[in-house]
Amino acid sequence: MMNVMAIEGGIPLRGTVRAQGAKNAALPVMAACLLLRGQALMLDNVPNLYDVSTMVELLSTLGVSVDREQPGGRVRLSVPEEVSWEAPESLVRKMRASSLVLGPLLARCGKAALPLPGGCSIGSRPIDLHLKGLVQMGAKIEIRSGVVYAQAGRLRGRRIYLDFPSVGATENLMMAAALAHGETIIENIAREPEIDNLAAVLAGMGVPIEIEGTGCVRIRGVDEVHSASERVIPDRIEASTYILAGVMTGGQITVADVIPAHIDAILARLEEAGARFAVTRNAVTVFPVERLQSVSLKTMPFPGFPTDLQSPMLAALSLASGVSMVEESVFQARFLCADELNRMGANIVIKGNTAVINGVRQLQGASVKATDLRAGAALILAGLAARGQTQVEEMVHVWRGYEAIDEKLRSLGARVRLAGTPAEGEQGA
Ligand code: UD1
Repeated sequence: MMNVMAIEGGIPLRGTVRAQGAKNAALPVMAACLLLRGQALMLDNVPNLYDVSTMVELLSTLGVSVDREQPGGRVRLSVPEEVSWEAPESLVRKMRASSLVLGPLLARCGKAALPLPGGCSIGSRPIDLHLKGLVQMGAKIEIRSGVVYAQAGRLRGRRIYLDFPSVGATENLMMAAALAHGETIIENIAREPEIDNLAAVLAGMGVPIEIEGTGCVRIRGVDEVHSASERVIPDRIEASTYILAGVMTGGQITVADVIPAHIDAILARLEEAGARFAVTRNAVTVFPVERLQSVSLKTMPFPGFPTDLQSPMLAALSLASGVSMVEESVFQARFLCADELNRMGANIVIKGNTAVINGVRQLQGASVKATDLRAGAALILAGLAARGQTQVEEMVHVWRGYEAIDEKLRSLGARVRLAGTPAEGEQGA
């Protein structure tokens, strides 16, 4: 894919787009295939994204046969009796979610090596909670030259309390617990819908698993798991990005194939800001409004306002009347798009973990750089609403999480085209 998106702004979007399968569900459920021996995992609705390709490459390197050439985002992961227990550094450095192979590899091989994930531009993102949980389950962990070496006989089911409801730690420990001896109870787990998707895959493989409404999961480990199939849930972040595109351009669009309950937090904030919608069982239609009003919000773990929509929301609130405050409480240093939005005429001031946004009437097109995946989405949104031409550079970040975003926007009437050189190689955090 190309590395620059050129946008002719100011066109109200019209039409219907369908949400892709969720990146953040596809990555852990694909990693879960490593629990299998001589069996296969069939997934539907897997999005065609750089991060998914990185996970495919990682699983292939470990020995899994991946067949992606099927319609409907169908992917078949066939796992041999033996797989490699060493994750290659080049792939892990490309994508933090590579750390999701640690739990399943350790559970099935009794050992695993994982270079510490790097390349994160959105604050410090350690994996200490993943490691602490595995140690509680009986693993011995050593870190030598930036590589985590984990060793265990068979992991033992334990009661684990997560100090923070980390999405990745919850997923890694759930997968590890699937083949552990006895019952694992993890408390204070992440409640993101992607966790339920992973639980469904594990249940399909024959693992007794129960998520309680109180933020606790119980998993009874089994001796071996069997083939399963599951559908990846719709991408609530991608769907919300299109909803914002409709709102910001004063357009009327329908985003289909969404699960409205997954996007309540964003719809509630937008409604408070004066946006208008119709919500059906699996679609959201945005109606045009003159101008949003300012709102204030704080990012939180699910069901709070998702940190992944913080940058896109900054773009939307840049155009609202009044002063909005957005506090980031999940990641540090995630306001990287503010400077770029300001280059387009926004008035955003960062004070510690809070962005203070003085709404302006109009943004102007400019040449801007995506610094990470969601910052890239924010700049595209700003470009769609701005007067004149915007060039978003470093689209390499956007291709990690948005399937065919240029085609989808064009189908809604946007004037966007790709330019520059192919965005290959580097794939960011
Ligand atoms: C996942 C999502 C990402 C989203 C994030 C929060 C995937 C592939 N990625 O990332 O898009 O932004 O959830 O919703 O699903 N932390 C620790 N120690 C740990 C683990 C996490 O301190 O061991 C901290 C992180 O530094 C961060 C916070 O906890 O500040 C949230 O991280 P976590 O929930 O683990 O996010 P990811 O799973 O990396």
